[in-house]
Amino acid sequence: MYWGKANRVRIVSVVGARPQFVKLAPVHLSLTRHDVDHIIIHTGQHYDEQLSDVFFKQLALPAPAINLHIGSQTHALQTAKMIEALEPQITDLAPDWVIAYGDTNSTLACAIVCSKLPFRLAHIEAGLRSNNRNMPEEHNRIITDHSSDVLLAPSETAMQNLKSEGLQSRSHFVGDVMIDILSKVSDSLNGQHESISSSAGLNGKFNIATIHRQENTDSKARLQQIINHIGNLETPTYIPAHPRLIKCCEQYSINLNSGNLSPINPLGYRELVASIIQSQHVITDSGGLQKEAHYLGTPCTTIRTETEWPETLLGNWNALTEPEDIGDLVHRPQPTEERGYPYGVGNASDAITNILCQNN
Ligand code: UD1
Repeated sequence: MYWGKANRVRIVSVVGARPQFVKLAPVHLSLTRHDVDHIIIHTGQHYDEQLSDVFFKQLALPAPAINLHIGSQTHALQTAKMIEALEPQITDLAPDWVIAYGDTNSTLACAIVCSKLPFRLAHIEAGLRSNNRNMPEEHNRIITDHSSDVLLAPSETAMQNLKSEGLQSRSHFVGDVMIDILSKVSDSLNGQHESISSSAGLNGKFNIATIHRQENTDSKARLQQIINHIGNLETPTYIPAHPRLIKCCEQYSINLNSGNLSPINPLGYRELVASIIQSQHVITDSGGLQKEAHYLGTPCTTIRTETEWPETLLGNWNALTEPEDIGDLVHRPQPTEERGYPYGVGNASDAITNILCQNN
């Protein structure tokens, strides 16, 4: 039996992929500070030390009470195996709330299981839309939003999206939990970002790049073009390489060590935050990095045709691009406009705890 005292609110979080561990950290802290009994289920979607364990260690998260060890499969099979393994666990736990985070296959599996059981589902990062139906994440987030009992939106744009889909009565604007953890961790660096990024192997004047989305990695021609254009930049660029990127480069015989580009191992969260602060420019296709660069004041270029975080585009702090224009956009004038706090000021987790405890 996993639960503690009988009279406490009981909440289960289902996570599985790297960005979800980051989102989980401030939520776990807030729930436990408010005497909520909180149990973590890890689906095992990400299992490498650098994509999973390092986040639990650095962000002071307890080891998950349950790990389903699903691992990598095709999208449908991975989701199906998660559904099969999650259902008996959530049934046995019989929580007051289940929390799903973001838009991964682990999120979708959790939403489907909860829609078949009498347990309420809260979705953190609800209402984001790319309107790009080729992205698996777009399907995951729409299905999850429509089957959730409470929708916790990170931005006003997300609230508008939920309203336009008729989901307003279940929606709350709470801000982004990633800002909660980012503001804490960046403060805790105490100006040591240069030495922390240097000890992670990022030295001198540099850009940092991350590429992992299947829209960019799964076409040989597009991936080669991206690598060439980043490698041609004047400033050296480090690329912490996601396993999907490495796998595709091996399959297509693409050399990541190309021109001014240097591959490095995936970074832990502290090292990533320090490196974003220290870098000249961020080049990415990740949602998290766009927001992190925006909050930390580093200009960002995003190799995508749309973003779920349009507020980052204001004042040219972030710019969308096709691979051939990477050089032009990285060299655009330094943004100067005030960025403001479109994703809240770092108290989203407490807002979420209050909503779930009050609706218990
Ligand atoms: C998943 C999410 C994506 C998120 C990303 C963060 C979905 C549909 N996508 O994409 O939204 O931005 O996580 O990283 O859920 N692999 C390893 N070790 C691991 C995990 C994966 O080597 O620990 C390899 C496997 O070859 C696997 C591939 O990476 O097939 C892709 O992993 P997967 O979890 O399917 O998707 P991500 O690309 O990581």
